[in-house]
Amino acid sequence: MKKKLIITVIALSLLLLAASIFCVWKINQTTTLKKSSFTFEYGKSVEITKNQLFDKEDLNSLQEIKIDVSSIKNEKNKTYPQVGEYDCTVHFKTFFTPQSKTFKVCVKDTVEPKFSKFTETIEIPAGTETNYDFTQYFKAEDLSGADIQIDSKSVNFNTPDDYTILVRAIDSHDNTVEKECTVKVTDIPSSPSVLQESKEDGLFYSQGILIVNKKHGLPSNYAPGENAEAGNQIRKLIADMQAQGYHISNQYSGYRSYSYQASLYNGYVASYGQAQADRFSAKPGFSEHQTGLAFDLKHTNGTLVETQPEVQWIKAHAHEYGFIVRYPQGKENITGYMAEPWHLRYVGDIARTIYESGLTLEEFLNVPGGTSY
Ligand code: DAL
Ligand code: ZN
Repeated sequence: MKKKLIITVIALSLLLLAASIFCVWKINQTTTLKKSSFTFEYGKSVEITKNQLFDKEDLNSLQEIKIDVSSIKNEKNKTYPQVGEYDCTVHFKTFFTPQSKTFKVCVKDTVEPKFSKFTETIEIPAGTETNYDFTQYFKAEDLSGADIQIDSKSVNFNTPDDYTILVRAIDSHDNTVEKECTVKVTDIPSSPSVLQESKEDGLFYSQGILIVNKKHGLPSNYAPGENAEAGNQIRKLIADMQAQGYHISNQYSGYRSYSYQASLYNGYVASYGQAQADRFSAKPGFSEHQTGLAFDLKHTNGTLVETQPEVQWIKAHAHEYGFIVRYPQGKENITGYMAEPWHLRYVGDIARTIYESGLTLEEFLNVPGGTSY
């Protein structure tokens, strides 16, 4: 009897010992992570699941798995993390014993910026300042922001030729994209000789550009209507401004006949007196509007455009459509008229060179102008 009892006690003790050994072994059994480092592209949100951390078999014996990624810092006001390396933790229990493991999360920006504006060929006249701002011809976009760097060392600003410059877009994490652009240094437009000027049917041209100012008028029967090319370009300019959110009307004041200009001018003289009217309105036969190449842009409120930001945009971009702002501020004694930021004159491709010269049409072509008829 006693012997039986002893055997039972020994058996139970052995069983208890085996169970204890099993528990201790299980507790001490190290659960290894399936993957201890995760990489995410910048801009993407970070999501890690327990299936990515543990093998299926391990998952069965783990309880209360909590993945802690609170060390990951988000970009300010964004839903995605900053570029960096983060130590994260997963907490869990095996056999009611809490354990934890660490793993790494790397957020990397490997995406290059993209050019949203790239001018393949830039023309500048010889003699242009060596610190000329080429950046205006390029724009790059990137989630982290992008800068444009230009290496224009190869350009000899005084020698007409084609030069290659290197344009680099670089984002905040040093991802870079590089492209080549051609800079054409052109001959300085020479002062036109008499030969480059012509008078046909009472129309005065300089370098192929029809000149209308107080010294050069138009015949009263000259009635070409709106110039088709200029009309297309002004509508394109208006559409682009509207697409960019500027308050610009589809209604513009373009071609005017001789007689319509006469009624306008006479009305102004009646209201303001001739001296004042002559500062802003052309006598019939002397208005650029009679050429079909001039356009007055209007604000959506119906007035001629004379407020910002529209005026600034027009000043900076009209040449891209072949126009010049014909009557700039401070040039009344040359153009004959007070500033009209709304009055655009179509000249075609040469608009860029005229714009870059900073000169009025009279100065650029060296033709007579001024306030007196
Ligand atoms: N306002 C311009 C000068 C014109 O009347 O043609
Ligand atoms: Zn006008």
